[in-house]
Amino acid sequence: MNIIVIGAGYVGLVTAITLAVLGHKVTAVDTDSKKVADLRRGVPPFFEPGLRQALKQQTAQGRLAFTEDLTKIGDGADYAFICVGTPSKETGEADLTYLMDAVQALVGKVTGPLRLVVKSTVPVGTNAFLRDLLTKTPAPSSSSGQTMADAVTVLSNPEFLREGSALQDSLNPDRIVIGATCAQAGQDLAEVYQGLKAPVLLMSPEEAELTKYAANTFLALKISYSNLLADFCEIVGADVRTVTDGIGLDPRIGPHFLKAGMGFGGSCFPKDVRSMVYQAKAKQLDSTLYQEILKINARRVEKAVSTLEHELGGLRDKTIAVLGLAFKPGTDDVRESPAIGVIGALLAAGCSVKAYDPEAAGNAAQVLPELSCTKTPDQAIADADAVVLVTDWPEFAQLPWRGLLKKMRNSVILDGRNMLDGRQLAAMGARYLGMGALDHMPTAD
Ligand code: UGA
Repeated sequence: MNIIVIGAGYVGLVTAITLAVLGHKVTAVDTDSKKVADLRRGVPPFFEPGLRQALKQQTAQGRLAFTEDLTKIGDGADYAFICVGTPSKETGEADLTYLMDAVQALVGKVTGPLRLVVKSTVPVGTNAFLRDLLTKTPAPSSSSGQTMADAVTVLSNPEFLREGSALQDSLNPDRIVIGATCAQAGQDLAEVYQGLKAPVLLMSPEEAELTKYAANTFLALKISYSNLLADFCEIVGADVRTVTDGIGLDPRIGPHFLKAGMGFGGSCFPKDVRSMVYQAKAKQLDSTLYQEILKINARRVEKAVSTLEHELGGLRDKTIAVLGLAFKPGTDDVRESPAIGVIGALLAAGCSVKAYDPEAAGNAAQVLPELSCTKTPDQAIADADAVVLVTDWPEFAQLPWRGLLKKMRNSVILDGRNMLDGRQLAAMGARYLGMGALDHMPTAD
């Protein structure tokens, strides 16, 4: 198939590569000309395991090309996948400006039949809105009353890939969700994915749109639930990891997304839960549960800062080492990262902050220009009054903690991801604090 992918961000670029791997001829379009120039040289705009190599391979084999100008693509594409961002507005509503720009640009150009696949996360009803728009748009040079809806079929096809394992997820999906009003068009799209081993779920566009929000909201709910449990555990002297292990083995609950700590960040969960709140309210539905997910999450950063304040007897003029800036390990993305919130609050309270992240220092410096980032974890930790671990990069568990503790002014370790061995650190003399994780075996008194 001849495929256009509009938007070369996480979802777009990874989708373009996946479709090229499946043997399609793919042109990815992005309005950012620097990004396009870099992609043509084989340089991805973000860090993602395996991406650079796959990009080079697919480009070299002539299956993947890039352009910044949609009008330069010859008419005759079979599919256009829309993969542009849908960020939050102030109100929590998803901003569809990029999506509408992409649709308008395509609609002005298409003459032959085209399947328009909406991969961007869009509020329920967006596909129907686009179908309606196409029905009201006369086809170019049509005298017989034909509309764009005669040429363009809209399909919903949400994406479930995770940053940090984006390519792996895209090539090995759990499921392929396709929302279509025309069963044949849905089946045709399923064939585009032939070669991937995953169940295909054909449903209505509304069901597909909601499936995406429901998945992200539910995963965020699991995390917030674990964080509530973590607070409970702290009060009763229990370890939240033991409790979540205890519930996670029940197959009805499952072990994933139960890690308590600093809470969720990134470009998806916060935005999508906010959008669920907005969509539910707009439909006069109960949005309380979705709002609670966000409130519990926001309290994690506040809790980390107040814990440090309490332990250090105030924050003014204290030096804090922050380990991890990315919103999760395996990525250089700092969007809505808990680290940004923690650092902002520490700086505002008069602390001096030294931060280390193996990948995300450059992106963090753009958001917090006043932040001092170090090249190594040792440089961040030396002379610090406290360490706060925000991102669970596996390498942080392997640090030579015994030696590092000796270099600290005060040996307070706040493990915001409950990933370090608290008992061992306490035995080395650290004041270890988890988030619902103990530094000793619970006692029965
Ligand atoms: C998330 C979903 O997992 C993907 O399925 C979805 O496709 C994607 O959003 C999207 O909508 O595009 P992503 O944001 O890349 O993927 O990252 P996750 O691995 O889901 O982590 C999100 C946040 O939750 C991170 O800040 C992570 O540290 C946090 N988290 C995750 C926890 O605090 N506890 C956990 O147990 C798991």
